[in-house]
Amino acid sequence: MAAPENKLAFDDGWQYSPAPESTGHIKIDKRYELFIGGKFVAPEKGKYFDTINPATEERLSRVADASALDVDKAVKAARKAYGPWSRLKAAERGKYIYRIARIMQERSREFAVIESLDGGKPIRESRDVDIPLATAHFFYYAGWADKLEYAFPGRKVKPLGVAGQVIPWNFPMLMASWKIAPALACGNTVVLKPAETTPLTAMKLAEAIADAGLPPGVVNIVTGAGDTGAAVVTHPDVDKVAFTGSTSVGRVIQKALAGTNKKYTLELGGKAANIVFADAAIDQAVEGIVTGIFFNQGHVCCAGSRLLVQESVADEVVQKLKDRMETLIVGDPLDKNTDIGAINSASQLKTIEAYLAVGQEEGGTMYQSSCAVPDKGYWCRPTIFTDVSQSNRVVQEEIFGPVLAIQTFRTFDEAVSKANNTPYGLSGGIWTDKGAKIFKMTQSIRAGVVWANTFNKFDPASPFGGYKESGVGREGGLHGLGAYLKLEA
Ligand code: NAI
Ligand code: MG
Repeated sequence: MAAPENKLAFDDGWQYSPAPESTGHIKIDKRYELFIGGKFVAPEKGKYFDTINPATEERLSRVADASALDVDKAVKAARKAYGPWSRLKAAERGKYIYRIARIMQERSREFAVIESLDGGKPIRESRDVDIPLATAHFFYYAGWADKLEYAFPGRKVKPLGVAGQVIPWNFPMLMASWKIAPALACGNTVVLKPAETTPLTAMKLAEAIADAGLPPGVVNIVTGAGDTGAAVVTHPDVDKVAFTGSTSVGRVIQKALAGTNKKYTLELGGKAANIVFADAAIDQAVEGIVTGIFFNQGHVCCAGSRLLVQESVADEVVQKLKDRMETLIVGDPLDKNTDIGAINSASQLKTIEAYLAVGQEEGGTMYQSSCAVPDKGYWCRPTIFTDVSQSNRVVQEEIFGPVLAIQTFRTFDEAVSKANNTPYGLSGGIWTDKGAKIFKMTQSIRAGVVWANTFNKFDPASPFGGYKESGVGREGGLHGLGAYLKLEA
């Protein structure tokens, strides 16, 4: 029997009936409360903060600022829900996660538009990458819920308890999915804190979770800034901490957790080398360089923010890259022709601009495309630095903007040593015609992910995580399940 229009029919009789505004026009409330114990509740101290559209600097909504009191309420709700949720038949748990996935799919247009409005990313990316990929994570982990014994043969699998999760602003919905979906599949309950500049899609996800009928308290969402995040990760009744964000905050969290029994995963910064050999398909490599650094304004922890290009093709590659940069459109995130949207916040723009100054003071040659940018909002033209050396700050430090540092190399070994010579180790890329070189390079680069002849490709089944200062632990795939389980012999 065909499902009625605008309704998803499930074999358990549950039906999703979206409000007309959620499928028609985009609805953003004037104010968002906290999602605790299955209800939307006002913050104890009555405080709210603005979330703005970084492309216009206009306020989109006001969002509850959760204090430690609210976080405590959320953790208590998660603890109360934990017993029944962890004992629920695994296939039933999976069913709830599938429901959330299907609602996200149904409301994907709305989620994509709000993601772009609140965070500044091009609608083409939120529509074609962020929201579909976020949904795919819920589908993927829903499927594992009743197969955990099969995933870890011969081991006894038990959930950890209450997971406290803090996420960044660069991929708000995707990061929420990376955190929530595996936690639920494994039988944990969740307190999630979205980033302060991009809380809106998390509140939309809260609506989807409520609509899915997830038992109250299984997922709680508390909005706020760093203090709220700190209250989540240091709460004594949180059993597992999952954090994605800056290496500096990651360090603070790691210190706070030392000596506790909390399990944790930290997904931190990066400074990936995208390595182009002379034998690569050059035009494809140039596209890969563009995707590597300009995707999501370069607000990507695994961005290919360093280009290492073999000397004999360096001039050709750099010229082709400059030509390609001229064609990139910077502007309105909601225009589907936009390639580079708004910088996420005034403070992030300030950080990026400081690096542009530093790079020039260090002796680098800066080149920016000549495109026009809007008067209002936060913008940065696509930028490259040549004539930089390994010790330069623009080569060593995460800028988190559309800024690429370009170096050359002669030999394979020189490429490896330059690629590995930063404090980070999250990702890398290699462009070559030779399969053997790919295998040798992937073994030589100390990074969690290495792409070959492509860049910034993601899949729920593949693990993600860093070496060195890029973090601790893995998310995604089977590894991502392991991070939410006690595995006993
Ligand atoms: P951040 O690390 O301060 O923010 C990330 C999240 O952590 C936010 O939700 C924030 O509210 C929360 N937070 C802040 N202080 C906290 C604390 N003491 N305890 C618990 N949670 C806390 O990053 P920020 O300041 O927004 O960006 C600064 C730099 O960090 C960027 O320029 C970029 O280089 C890097 N970054 C890296 C990300 C990644 O995916 N690896 C994501 C976001 C930022
Ligand atoms: Mg915002």
